[in-house]
Amino acid sequence: MKTYRIALLPGDGIGKEVIPAGVWVLEAAARAEGTFALEFQPFDWGCEYYLRNGRMMPEDGLDRLRPLDAIYLGAIGHPTVPDHISLRELLLKIRFTFDLYVNLRPVEILPGLKSPLAGKGPAEIDMLFIRENTEGEYSGLGGRFKRGTSDEVAIQSSIFTRKGVERVMRYAFDQARRRPRKCLASATKSNAMQYTMVLWDETLREVAKDYPDVTVGNYHVDALAARMVTHPESLDVVVGSNLFADILTDIGGALQGSLGLAVSANLNPTARLGPPMFEPVHGSAPDIEGRGIANPIAAIWSAALMMEHLGESAAAQRIMRALKAVTGEGRVRTPDLGGKSTTSEFTAAVIAAL
Ligand code: NAI
Ligand code: MG
Repeated sequence: MKTYRIALLPGDGIGKEVIPAGVWVLEAAARAEGTFALEFQPFDWGCEYYLRNGRMMPEDGLDRLRPLDAIYLGAIGHPTVPDHISLRELLLKIRFTFDLYVNLRPVEILPGLKSPLAGKGPAEIDMLFIRENTEGEYSGLGGRFKRGTSDEVAIQSSIFTRKGVERVMRYAFDQARRRPRKCLASATKSNAMQYTMVLWDETLREVAKDYPDVTVGNYHVDALAARMVTHPESLDVVVGSNLFADILTDIGGALQGSLGLAVSANLNPTARLGPPMFEPVHGSAPDIEGRGIANPIAAIWSAALMMEHLGESAAAQRIMRALKAVTGEGRVRTPDLGGKSTTSEFTAAVIAAL
């Protein structure tokens, strides 16, 4: 029987509440399938670890993750540590070092749940975002000059490589081709950014030649943000740079009705430098941590994405069916969705439906 070794990185705040919920569901799904086993390796890296050790993860942290089959991450960040340290020294380090250049984010409305957009439901809101995940605006290049003086200057450079743009676009076209509508929208800003975004547009046109069956739309990112709200039904697959798609996907999360519903996979579809990583999109939610009321839907959905990418489609579908049965029934809901249930009550309902 195949055994998958999964790194558990619950991280901070409600990450430590929703990841155990996801593990509980994964274990139940593996038992129900009976065709594979899961072995979990927990890591306590995050802000508490930082306060004890002065770093977000041990020096050989990435080497310890590398041989595992997948990383299941909660959220990293806490008011006790500056966000640029916690984000860059753990999450971004994993994404960049393992070259997980695709950040995949489905934006769908689960049965029984309502989008805040009037009159728009599962038929109108069904998008798949492909965010470039390893370069662009988050390359981390730059510096500060005359720090702390009134003459201070800060420079933050974006890096766009032809190779980096092309590979993420190819992946986006491949995804568009697989979907019924076969549409790809690209987020650009080439009117104002004449170097990086013109390269982005040129690459889009170049790659599009290999996909004549895919309909391509090229939108300025601000207009695309508006379109997500006014005409969400016109969008299918959307590809964007690290910063642009980071922002657009939070609009996606809002369209879904709660940040507690947004999921993501960090993948390298062409080479293995380390394991893929699956995570709910939301943060550590310090405002509700420790109360047991965090919505575990995104974490459970991420677990299903993980099963899908490990090649265990039946388990992934089983988890999604159970999740949709519970949301569809509407009896058990966490407070962010207007209910009174706890994280564990919701999770128990999903397990019962499995
Ligand atoms: P956040 O996502 O933690 O919270 C925003 C709001 O959404 C809060 O009101 C929170 O209670 C609510 N919320 C989020 N997830 C929820 C869930 N599962 N169930 C119910 N309500 C939920 O974003 P915020 O407050 O901007 O960031 C808090 C910390 O998390 C910061 O340190 C930030 O850097 C970090 N963060 C980490 C991310 C990651 O690890 N990928 C992503 C976003 C933020
Ligand atoms: Mg974001």
